[in-house]
Amino acid sequence: MNIVLANDHGAVELSKKISEHLESKGHKVNWLGVQEEKSVDYPDMAQLACNEYLNGDYDFGILCCGTGIGISISANKINGIRCALPQNIFASQMAKQHNNVNFIAFGGRIDYQEDPLDMLDAFIEEDFAAGRHERRVSKIMSLEK
Ligand code: RB5
Repeated sequence: MNIVLANDHGAVELSKKISEHLESKGHKVNWLGVQEEKSVDYPDMAQLACNEYLNGDYDFGILCCGTGIGISISANKINGIRCALPQNIFASQMAKQHNNVNFIAFGGRIDYQEDPLDMLDAFIEEDFAAGRHERRVSKIMSLEK
């Protein structure tokens, strides 16, 4: 898969792990985030990755900040983006199966009970269930208008 990744200084280590993990599985990662502890503003990182996703040929995007909260809120303000902030593997699966999100967010300072890399793998392996969920996702997107 072709994946865009961005992060702020609160998730440098996690983003590095994510990038290495995905590349080891044969995915292509365009890492636009900060790769050292240099302070940046997470809305800028969200905007950068979302614009790249919307103008490029990506399967989905990943956003990371300290908690995943600020960067996911920012992404969800951009038309065309649906960004999930899952708390475990189950929520990651549902984010694809029910919500068909195009971005998934994680927090570099969060002590997850399940490994974010497993959450990411579960997300990638899942398919959108469509059916009644098409209607609900369309309703989400119509809230942009
Ligand atoms: C940056 O210090 C921190 O606020 C940011 O990474 C994130 O946690 C915001 O939601």
